[in-house]
Amino acid sequence: MKEQIHLPKCKGVLNKDDRPEVKASELNLFGDELISDVLAFQKSHPLYSNTPLIVLDQLAKRLNVESIQVKDKSHRFGLNAFKVMGGIYAVGKYLAEQLNKDINELSFAELKSDEVKQKVGEITFISATDGNHGRGIAWAARELGQHSIIYLPKGSTKARLEAIRNEGGHAEIKDMNYDATVKYSADLAKEKGYVIVQDTAWQGYEEIPLWIMQGYAAIAKEIADQTKEVPTHLVLQGGVGSFAAGIAAYYLKRYRNQAPKLIIVEPNLADCYYQSLNSPNQEIRPVTGEMNSIMAGLCCGEPNLTAYQLLKKYAYASFSCDDELAALGMRVLGQPLRGDESIISGESGAVPLGLLYHLMEDGNKDDLRALGLNQQSKILMISTEGDTDPEGYLDIVWKGHYPN
Ligand SMILES: Cc1ncc(COP(=O)(O)O)c(C=O)c1O
Repeated sequence: MKEQIHLPKCKGVLNKDDRPEVKASELNLFGDELISDVLAFQKSHPLYSNTPLIVLDQLAKRLNVESIQVKDKSHRFGLNAFKVMGGIYAVGKYLAEQLNKDINELSFAELKSDEVKQKVGEITFISATDGNHGRGIAWAARELGQHSIIYLPKGSTKARLEAIRNEGGHAEIKDMNYDATVKYSADLAKEKGYVIVQDTAWQGYEEIPLWIMQGYAAIAKEIADQTKEVPTHLVLQGGVGSFAAGIAAYYLKRYRNQAPKLIIVEPNLADCYYQSLNSPNQEIRPVTGEMNSIMAGLCCGEPNLTAYQLLKKYAYASFSCDDELAALGMRVLGQPLRGDESIISGESGAVPLGLLYHLMEDGNKDDLRALGLNQQSKILMISTEGDTDPEGYLDIVWKGHYPN
């Protein structure tokens, strides 16, 4: 029987009994040298500047842990979310492959040049998205002089649709859930000769999602370049799991058995990692139907296959959370204790902090011991988005929607 943790606003399962020695050779695609090259390409965009790593000393004292650090990815290329780190690398790498060149030899400016445009011709990139990934793809395609078509699932907000259109993408909301929208986009790509740039892998479609994961892993490299502190815990959001797997893979490769414990956080309405890791043989258990969580970015019912293999092996625990924890995280980050810096973090960005807060305030000793959370714990989180739904953000932070 797997060890379970039940609290009023979340349930968790520990995966630690299955945690093997870290096999570095399995993680060669996330080694420091390779990921440094990925980051070097991302940095070649003229708008690149490092995003802040914020230390919340007062909150750490209050929650009785040694440190809490939050990487604020809302500042990335002015897009209010981290996702473009994957999109820019995947689109760049695709164009480099078309030119038969190594991306290390190419800068963003070169890929944008008329000469390259003449060689590769007009390309339409297509993708399905909750909002953030699609905005990143639309931005990257436009920046590189190419086209994009982006589909959003049923229930997506107008603000997120408009944000994609503002980046030059042709964007529409479809009357189907996220996973069906992905399938629709993949089928259309085949029919029309578009290039699908999806942030999740399935059998036969693995290369571009790997580039996207490597693009995300560069965030871990940015953090490692900003601080010498090696965290004891990484608390990371799970949608399809590409993000968590990319970050975790970098840490595992770099620090091996000293790598931080990884805790995956999902909304309870789209908790495919929790359900799968909690099942007897840890087979993938997709979540289907409408997923109406406020954590729109995490409303994915099917894991990325590559990411799932990695996380099944190396994740320490997985949590399924109520929307109230995302709202709590948004308020705590936005309205910090005196002395701590305020972070504008959206629903999907703030849920790790909401979970940590709930665990430290309401978890019993056994729960915390099982997770290895104590006064020596050094927690690292990534606020993966800012207020990508600005009205929804104010409803929660100002008007107190989703109270605890
Ligand atoms: C803001 C935000 N955070 C986290 C994630 C999770 O990323 P992944 O789907 O790769 O697990 C997403 C996915 O879209 C997102 O938009």
